Amino acid sequence: MYGIDLLMKEHLNIIAFTEYMKNCCCAILEGADVDVVQFTECIDFARSYADKHHHGKEEEILFRHMLDNPGSATEKLVKNGMLVEHDFGRFHITELENALKLYTQYPCTKNRLGIITHASAYADLLQRHIQKEDNVCYTYAQRILSNAEKKQIDEETRAFEEQAEHNSIQKKYLAWLDARG
Ligand SMILES: [Fe+2]
Ligand SMILES: [Fe+2]
Repeated sequence: MYGIDLLMKEHLNIIAFTEYMKNCCCAILEGADVDVVQFTECIDFARSYADKHHHGKEEEILFRHMLDNPGSATEKLVKNGMLVEHDFGRFHITELENALKLYTQYPCTKNRLGIITHASAYADLLQRHIQKEDNVCYTYAQRILSNAEKKQIDEETRAFEEQAEHNSIQKKYLAWLDARG
């Protein structure tokens, strides 16, 4: 199924990104200065690619169709699980942004800690979230969705991708990530 295959491919890019974020944190722990530009670019990737481009397709297309199928298991998995975790991710990115601003004003150890805390918490959260989606959520979706719904999801995903390509989203962010691999 194209819609889910594409989301799983994007997971590989997001995993590579979270590993890069962890490496940026490790460099600070090993004594490097905080690279504010580097973390600002990570915030942009997290918001534009991981959230708007990837979570956007999950929330607006796949999860929306899953929730069209009534049932407490779906509600629990999607609403209390996946969507809550997307929100935790947004929280950590906002806090990372705040920590960077604070650090720029007062470059002390406590403000370095804020950066490391939220960047590594985000990376960890997304890695566990992706594991749950690949192993539980997407397989569950394949089971409960009808063939007509799957076809509809594929079509909506193609339209979403075309729009994003028009704005060079995939090209821009995958090139950025490649340069850091
Ligand atoms: Fe997700
Ligand atoms: Fe995902």
